[in-house]
Amino acid sequence: MLIVDTIADLRETLAPHRRAGRRIGFVPTMGYLHKGHTTLVDRAREHADVVVASIFVNPLQFAPTEDFARYPRDLPADSRLLEEHGCDILFAPSVEEMYPRPIATHVEVGGLSTILEGERRPGHFRGVATVVAKLFGIVQPDVACFGEKDYQQLAVIRRMVADLSLPVEILGVPTVREADGVACSSRNVYLSADERALAPVLNRSLAEAEAAIRDGILDPEAIEALIRRVLATVPVAEPDLVAVCRADDLGPIDPKAPPGAIAMMLAVRIGRTRLLDQRVVSLSA
Ligand code: PAF
Repeated sequence: MLIVDTIADLRETLAPHRRAGRRIGFVPTMGYLHKGHTTLVDRAREHADVVVASIFVNPLQFAPTEDFARYPRDLPADSRLLEEHGCDILFAPSVEEMYPRPIATHVEVGGLSTILEGERRPGHFRGVATVVAKLFGIVQPDVACFGEKDYQQLAVIRRMVADLSLPVEILGVPTVREADGVACSSRNVYLSADERALAPVLNRSLAEAEAAIRDGILDPEAIEALIRRVLATVPVAEPDLVAVCRADDLGPIDPKAPPGAIAMMLAVRIGRTRLLDQRVVSLSA
């Protein structure tokens, strides 16, 4: 696996592949990789001839109060894992390489960026959309893979790609879980052993909500109340976001005209760690 840290080197490395008509797959990450990320690499491998992963902890998507400085980083371990999964090129630029001067151009996906998680983390999705658009401009992938765990992020990116007619296919990859159901996340490392033992409550609440939906409960308020009841069985779990919405555009559900699929999204604090999880329940067939 080749590791490059400048935009010029990456472009030079990719040029012959592009000229040879090879399909380029891309997995953007912020590093500290786990099974969720390697599943994205495996998926990219299935859909492309050349797989590029990026590791860049993007300051634009962190608020000043958030964990940019302490976000976990381990480039040597990440490189090994990527290599094991057949990644061809790792792009690991510095902040100075990506933002040599304060960036004046931002990508704002109106509406989707400011609801739900976007309301709680103002500017976050603007930072994500901006860096993903920039990375797409640098890598020019044919296909890019994103995890469904960050469900609203995936919706924002899909909308950005559609609105700007970017020539890249976006593949959403289902959330990868540990054996006890906890969604894989780089931030799980922040949990103490006691907190980690309580973390399955997120997935448990979603599983119970899915069962209720399958039993015909389609009222979003009733589903949300059920999720909150299950989360409340773990007193240290503090829900910051419990959203039950249409899976396609994250809009509100009309129980009298149920959508094709319902998305449930959670952001729950356990101690100082804010964990995300999600589940989509398809109602068709
Ligand atoms: O999901 C992430 O790791 C990041 O938000 C992304 C998409 C790499 C952009 O920085």
